[in-house]
Amino acid sequence: MKCIALIGYMCVGKTTIGKALSKRTGLRFYDLDWYIEHRFRRKIPEIFAEDGEEKFRIMEQNMLHEVAEFEDIVLSCGGGTPTWADNMEYLNATAQTFYMKAAPETILAHLAMARGNRPILAGKSPDELDAFVRKQLAEREAFYAKAQHTINVDILDSFEKINDVVEMIAAQLETTTA
Ligand code: S3P
Repeated sequence: MKCIALIGYMCVGKTTIGKALSKRTGLRFYDLDWYIEHRFRRKIPEIFAEDGEEKFRIMEQNMLHEVAEFEDIVLSCGGGTPTWADNMEYLNATAQTFYMKAAPETILAHLAMARGNRPILAGKSPDELDAFVRKQLAEREAFYAKAQHTINVDILDSFEKINDVVEMIAAQLETTTA
């Protein structure tokens, strides 16, 4: 089987679902951010701060090409991966793509719980963050919408909810690989 790629905005739960889907399917799990950090031995915020976003996107694209060629993996992409160059076309040609679609309110609720160390969101007040997420999500939607599958996700705050999303993906995989 080819790579299964999870895409969607920051904090929709791509890594959480990716790990659970990996267990469910027996496929190896890769997170593109972690892969970049491991390959370059540098943290994402450090790359943004020292090299800027454009250089990060070029590194990200190169690493996407490296990892998406692997067979039998679940790959969690960065929130901005599908929006750069022809990454979305590349993903659709190389992988089974799943857009994890969440409402801005869901994303903002996740962010309020844990924003993590995401350079794009750093230093914003709650109001700025609210406006930024809504605007950027709307801008990115056209890229995300090119995915072969769309899975609507709510707040993933229980094992049952995570399991439901994993089962939805597994069911869609069965219909496409049957
Ligand atoms: C980014 C999302 C991050 C990471 C980087 C940029 C974005 O990944 O690649 O901070 O532009 O949306 P996650 O979606 O895994 O947080």
